[in-house]
Amino acid sequence: MSRFPRLAAALALSLLPAAALAEGDVDAGERVFAKCKACHAVGDGAKNRVGPQLNDVFGRIAGTAEGFRYSPAMMKAGEDGLVWNEETLTAYLTAPRAFIKGNRMAFAGLKKDAEIDDVLAYLATFSQSGDDDAASAEPAPADAPDTATEDGAAAEPKAGEPEGAVVEAEAAAEPPAHGVFHLGRPATEAEVAAWDIDIRPDGAGLPVGSGTVLEGETVYTEQCAVCHGDFGEAIGRWPVLAGGYDTLTRERPVKTIGSYWPYLSTVYDYVRRAMPFGNARSLSDDDVYALTAYVLYLNDIVTDEAFELNQDNLATIRLPNEDGFVADDRYEEPHYAAGAEPCMRECKPGKAEIAQHAAVLDVTPDGDSDEDGSGGGID
Ligand code: HEC
Ligand code: HEC
Repeated sequence: MSRFPRLAAALALSLLPAAALAEGDVDAGERVFAKCKACHAVGDGAKNRVGPQLNDVFGRIAGTAEGFRYSPAMMKAGEDGLVWNEETLTAYLTAPRAFIKGNRMAFAGLKKDAEIDDVLAYLATFSQSGDDDAASAEPAPADAPDTATEDGAAAEPKAGEPEGAVVEAEAAAEPPAHGVFHLGRPATEAEVAAWDIDIRPDGAGLPVGSGTVLEGETVYTEQCAVCHGDFGEAIGRWPVLAGGYDTLTRERPVKTIGSYWPYLSTVYDYVRRAMPFGNARSLSDDDVYALTAYVLYLNDIVTDEAFELNQDNLATIRLPNEDGFVADDRYEEPHYAAGAEPCMRECKPGKAEIAQHAAVLDVTPDGDSDEDGSGGGID
């Protein structure tokens, strides 16, 4: 489950049709639209006026309302891939001039987020969005191309449907291949698979494979001992991998896999992902099982050199300090349990006051002088 309900909602939103705009109030939006009415019409039979008509503005490529003479800047924005959606409309209506330099909308912008949410909710009711209009504007049924080849003629548009509608609706629904902002492209399945290598404490994500302590010792001696030491004791200042038991409460705890880490899955994940340092992702899955087994051995968690670790038994092994951690229980806290939206802005009524200075609290290491507060620390 996502720890960030708002983010999850935002992601979901971007996949949904415009009608699913969750936040705004349509009625309030109609009142906000009074500010746009001097220039824009929307609704049945809306015509272009000082500004373009705004029916079906969600999904519209900027600068493409039929018959309206846009500024070169607005047409360029559309050619560059700007498509109107909740995000881009919000940015535009917040600061029209800054969002598209040189566009001709003589409007200062809406100051309050709520006004923008509301007016967008209102405009969304005039955008095709799973309502009847949208349904009838869907691409021709799958059998149409067949008919076309049989007849040797182009498929007829359905009765009562203007010929252009199919093409236009499709163009409006699909953002261009290079994306709205001309940045990157969607990741391929193979690319996602290559990144998707995380392993969870319950063993989810583990590849099929196995390795023994003895096999691990060979790989470790060749590829790891130069830095981490023959027994995980570390050479110089490279990280220690073993020992440190009962040091966690000391002034200088020695945090190792044996003394500190809660889950063995992290060892597998980390070594496979990041080690050997400087040559990451070079180990086979079996080598990583063997090395993980060897690290257990170095930490006296297994004692048998023939011990074999594999995808089935890895998650059954418990590390000594597992109970030293608690699972993230924030959802049980009263605030989250009540399902309350976290406050993100203007949460404290009235004027904010500085109650304390870090320099006075002495949390910042001494620079030259703390007196003038300009010593580089947080004030
Ligand atoms: C003073 C007139 C004026 C006002 C007020 C105004 N607009 Fe505009 N708007 C325009 C003009 C003119 C354009 C075309 C700009 C260009 O071509 O550079 C435009 C463009 C747009 C576009 C881009 C549409 C497209 O086809 O690409 C949207 C969306 C939009 N306005 C929404 C709004 C909303 C919502 C409001 C009210 C909150 C509003 N406008 C207020 C004049 C105005
Ligand atoms: C060139 C030196 C070097 C080599 C060789 C090397 N490591 Fe590391 N290892 C590091 C460094 C540096 C870190 C810490 C990296 C960091 O914190 O960003 C680290 C961290 C680790 C950790 C996490 C330790 C902790 O407590 O945070 C493990 C486990 C580990 N290495 C295992 C291995 C294994 C297994 C090999 C052999 C396949 C290996 N390393 C080879 C330098 C090395």
